[in-house]
Amino acid sequence: MRRREFIQGSLAVAAQVALPAATANAAPTLTIPYGAAVRGDVLVDDYNYRKALIDHCQLIVAEGSMKWESIHPTPDRFDFYDGDKLINFAEQNGMKMRGHTLVWYAAMPEWALAIKGANQANSEMSRHIETVVGRYRGRIPSWDVVNEAVADEPTASDYLRPNVWLENLGKDYLATAFRRAHASDDQVQLVINEYDIECVGEQYKRRREALLRIVRDLRDRDVPVHAVGLQGHLRGELEIDKHALSEFVSQVKAMGLDVLVTELDVTDNLLPPDQQERDTIVASRVEDFLGAIFDAARPTAIVTWGISDRHTWVPMYFTREDGRHNRPLPLDRNYRPKAMMEVIERFTRTTG
Ligand code: G3I
Repeated sequence: MRRREFIQGSLAVAAQVALPAATANAAPTLTIPYGAAVRGDVLVDDYNYRKALIDHCQLIVAEGSMKWESIHPTPDRFDFYDGDKLINFAEQNGMKMRGHTLVWYAAMPEWALAIKGANQANSEMSRHIETVVGRYRGRIPSWDVVNEAVADEPTASDYLRPNVWLENLGKDYLATAFRRAHASDDQVQLVINEYDIECVGEQYKRRREALLRIVRDLRDRDVPVHAVGLQGHLRGELEIDKHALSEFVSQVKAMGLDVLVTELDVTDNLLPPDQQERDTIVASRVEDFLGAIFDAARPTAIVTWGISDRHTWVPMYFTREDGRHNRPLPLDRNYRPKAMMEVIERFTRTTG
């Protein structure tokens, strides 16, 4: 069985769990798993949060619990408490869990940012990946191996984001990370995850080109990378470049990779104050984004970066000047579905 069939199979099985009996004898609906980023502390404290995840999701991902600062706080200590809690919750409720993230510039503990030289960088990255992927081998079917490798303002000569790994290992750090992850669990979907590639504008165009170049380079060197994660942190005020996004996804598919949506939400700090109007604009951005992707390929999963407006990172950077709460996610602060959830459900239930 080819890897991709294994991965699609395991995620699709999770998705099928949700189907009501009535459709049992209808043509099988190849649903796409929908999932959300989860916060371990809220999971324990908030019953409605747990219920919303169980009611709507086939998949979850840790919003922070599996990042270096949480899971590897000191050189000789790994902390799997939160990660284990989340994956047990997922398995107890018939869901799968994605892994986020093995190699990133952010959420790094001071000791790791102080890494110096290729040898130390290589051994610390390898030990981290082998230990974390090894811990969840056979339980996590998809990992964000490298996150946000593209420079903020990429140019043809300078397109990789500076970080402790690029500094000490050069651009080979990406190939090393994917090879280590593959060696740690050869059944996992290995993902390169990126943001800000979907909108109209020169900067987005250059970011698409940079990401395609990175993927092409990895593929040309037979590095085991299986999919591109489109984070999808959409801006309510910015138009989706539907043609360019479809073309981007087609090129990714042409290189033999899958795509998935990994962190979908819509910042609304520059949108009108009226809730109804804001929710409608948010849903239309999601419609354009998912529509452009589906025109080129079916993503292997659709994940939002949180499920309810009550628990979201958006106010950290995109607080509304009028003091109103942000509304970036599929469920409102009282866990009631919004127009955005209807759009997502329509796409996840398109027959394949
Ligand atoms: O847990 C501590 C808490 O003890 C402390 O009191 C508080 C005040 O400083 O900080 C809390 O940690 C925060 C953590 O979120 C948990 O809420 C960190 O400071 C804060 O930096 C961290 O932000 C996360 C950020 O990634 C950095 O890891 C956001 O929640 C999370 O939504 C965001 O997610 C990223 C994806 O991983 C990658 N793509 C973009 C996305 C949004 O930025």
